[in-house]
Amino acid sequence: MTTTTALEAELHVKRAHELPYESARERVEVLVPELIRHNRLYHAEDRAEIDDRTYDLLYRELEILEQRFSDLIRPDSPTLRVGDRPIDELTPFPHRVPMLSLSNSLTEGEFLEFDARVRKLLGSPSPTYHVEPKLDGLACELIYVHGQLEGAGTRGDGETGEDVTHNIRTIRAIPSRLSTTTPPERISVRGEVLFPLEGFHRMNAERLSSGQKAFENPRNAAAGTLRQLDPRIAAARPLTFFAYGIGECDGFDLPQMHDEQLALLASWGLPVNPLNAAAADGEQALTAIRSLGARRNELPYEIDGAVVKVNDIQIQAKLGFVTRSPRWATAFKFPPMRVTTRLENVGFQVGRTGAVTPVAWLAPVRVGGVTVSRATLHNADELERLDLRIGDLVAVERSGDVIPKVILVVPEDGRELRPKVTYPERCPECSTPLTRDADAVATRCPNTVTCPAQIRAAIRHFGSRIAMDIDGLGEKLVDQLVDAGLIRRVSDLYALDLTAVANLERMGPRSAENLLAALETSKSRPLDRALVALGIPQVGETTAKDLARHFGTLDQILSAASTPSALSAVPGIGPIVADAIQKFFSSDANLTEIDCLRARGVQFAPIAPARATSGAVSGKTFVLTGTLPTMSRDQAKALIEAAGGKVSGSVSKKTDYVVAGAEAGSKLDKAQELGVTILDEAGLQTILTSG
Ligand code: IVH
Repeated sequence: MTTTTALEAELHVKRAHELPYESARERVEVLVPELIRHNRLYHAEDRAEIDDRTYDLLYRELEILEQRFSDLIRPDSPTLRVGDRPIDELTPFPHRVPMLSLSNSLTEGEFLEFDARVRKLLGSPSPTYHVEPKLDGLACELIYVHGQLEGAGTRGDGETGEDVTHNIRTIRAIPSRLSTTTPPERISVRGEVLFPLEGFHRMNAERLSSGQKAFENPRNAAAGTLRQLDPRIAAARPLTFFAYGIGECDGFDLPQMHDEQLALLASWGLPVNPLNAAAADGEQALTAIRSLGARRNELPYEIDGAVVKVNDIQIQAKLGFVTRSPRWATAFKFPPMRVTTRLENVGFQVGRTGAVTPVAWLAPVRVGGVTVSRATLHNADELERLDLRIGDLVAVERSGDVIPKVILVVPEDGRELRPKVTYPERCPECSTPLTRDADAVATRCPNTVTCPAQIRAAIRHFGSRIAMDIDGLGEKLVDQLVDAGLIRRVSDLYALDLTAVANLERMGPRSAENLLAALETSKSRPLDRALVALGIPQVGETTAKDLARHFGTLDQILSAASTPSALSAVPGIGPIVADAIQKFFSSDANLTEIDCLRARGVQFAPIAPARATSGAVSGKTFVLTGTLPTMSRDQAKALIEAAGGKVSGSVSKKTDYVVAGAEAGSKLDKAQELGVTILDEAGLQTILTSG
């Protein structure tokens, strides 16, 4: 098969809007298997043939064709995997065959004891083993019936987990159909859902920059994502999966070796970990374990050990179980990446939202292949718990490439004589007395207007890649601009004087011109980027996109921000986020700053609102009459249109719904006469959100 280029794919996307039915049908027949194949090459076989952009374009083309001709949507279409509506609650997911846990071997000696025990029980020479990375994510079971993915659940207590089918369907690595013409009647595939490290760090940076709490580690992030009710959240995160076993299997003769079973799953398109290795005996297994340990830090996901399994399924059965763990397998746990070093000082960092975070300055030390000289101390409570003193010997832990943290203080004689670290009472940058949040976790500098640390962080964020993407506006330059008094708020960026910038140290006329040109370009960034740039608490890239798509323009957002129900009507925006947005846009300082940005040419360039193509509102005609309790007529109209409906001025037989408020007049009478469905504001909200 020839490989598509991005250019070809782009042309196909353009043509897709006009393709006649017959050609569209032929194209869909090519696209669906092609996309399935690329998913598989990328996730299961780690040998992608096309880049992400080309994949996205092929996917987009399919979406367009399916939107135009809905009868062309094939049951195995990759577009069907992304659910479009939240479920009400997570329901129990019973495992027909319990999902067991593994006994641990904490040292090489303990592993050799495991091997000796196995050999003794069998009374024969060593069985062959299969050594696999112990993937540090969330165990899940996938049920395929006649080759089709039917359901998926978490492990839970081993007997019953939670049904997370809606989220599992969004994981590209998991085929919705097994690629075999002779699938088992029913098979349960077990494996681990993982949050890859790169995506994890990207998401955490985004969460922090929008004032949300970061996930502690990739495992929590995977679990938190799978437990979401709204599958669009999982769809926007890069979860992946590796299969490591089979629970039950009906109507199929499985091979008798564990590694052969995994090879079978791989041939059906399920990802199986490429680092799995066969070992002829315990000694070889130990070598394989060590080799996994040595590669631990190079992997794009976290592993916390190695799992060693007896390879022969019949021998596994002979060995059986003790309580909840098999006698034929053990988990060798890698030692945590923990070292000790001296605490040299504690710094207090002021973030963009004013949160003051203590940071340990350490005597540089190697942990898991990297040199560490800073570690987070989280917050005031953590500082209190550790009872830190400068000069203490502290244990520092790194998990994967997450920010290192100080775990404990090593007790030493005379440490109480060292100076105790205390939280400052005033902001280290602007001396404003610090306050503690209502939840009492974060300590904050309340001086959001003139605290230089907050200004610097806000400006850095404004110019960052995910926001206005201002080329050349790096950390150092921001510091210089603020220190020189050239900028005090983000809008000052757009009034910078060329000579003043050129006169800064290390700048010169050329760099100054480049910066001003980059600033000029940034004025036309689309609305969603500009929303991210404003630094609205709780609003990261995804929410900004949701807002921009739903409302289309900044003015619509501003008017919706005064009506909580209008904000909550946006799919993906819950009450906490709606509240944060409302607060942000009700601050005079923020509104003045937005006015100033606009006056200086920032366009908040509108993006076309997404037109829904399905659902209760799409294609329906509405008539609005009377005064609604919380929404203005314009707001109601914008919401209906964003959901794909039309708003008309008069009632006729073609009217689908009349939305009536207080003092509705003749239009309501006419609607009753014609038998048109009448809704109040709550009714409108219901069909908007359900549609
Ligand atoms: S086999 C009876 N293989 O470890 C066999 N488990 O305590 C049970 N895990 O939460 C599982 N990588 O999610 C197996 N290659 C691997 C694994 C693995 C990670 C996790 C699993 C479960 C825990 C078992």
